Amino acid sequence: MTIREILKMGDVRLLRVAPPVTQFDTDDLHLLISDMFDTMQAVDGAGLAAPQIGVALQVVIFGTDAPNLRYPDAPQVPRTVLLNPLITPLSPQEESDWEGCLSVPGLRGVVPRFSHIRYTGFDQYGDPIDRTVAGFHARVVQHECDHLIGKLYPMRIRDFAQFGYTEVLFPGLDASKDD
Ligand code: NI
Repeated sequence: MTIREILKMGDVRLLRVAPPVTQFDTDDLHLLISDMFDTMQAVDGAGLAAPQIGVALQVVIFGTDAPNLRYPDAPQVPRTVLLNPLITPLSPQEESDWEGCLSVPGLRGVVPRFSHIRYTGFDQYGDPIDRTVAGFHARVVQHECDHLIGKLYPMRIRDFAQFGYTEVLFPGLDASKDD
């Protein structure tokens, strides 16, 4: 069990474009993914991208097999390991909702995302993933994959009147942990 340090906004390593994974099912890759799950679970996050722990590779994880305490009302997203992802919006329709990020602790902002997407990629064994999703699931995927092109959610905010401290915006929420 290894919990890795999560880089915070301002660290230039979060701004890099990550190269694709070229070798699947390797010991290094399995160790990276295991560390990422340990790290995400330690802070009860909804997802994590490899660049957030300083690893420049197109690897994201998200979802859980149990309800997420940070988003108790959110529909469940299956536990997923996604490498070399490609996102295709299925319509121009967007929806706006609150997001947080482990690399931007203590803050939340309203971010527009495509409502319906198809995403493809591979799991850690090189088996293809091809899903059509909507709503919260689509939002999580778009947020995590943005980390692979050096984008943090504040860069997607259009209305900065809807950006602030979690403890102020949502006083009832347990602020001891951030997402
Ligand atoms: Ni994030």
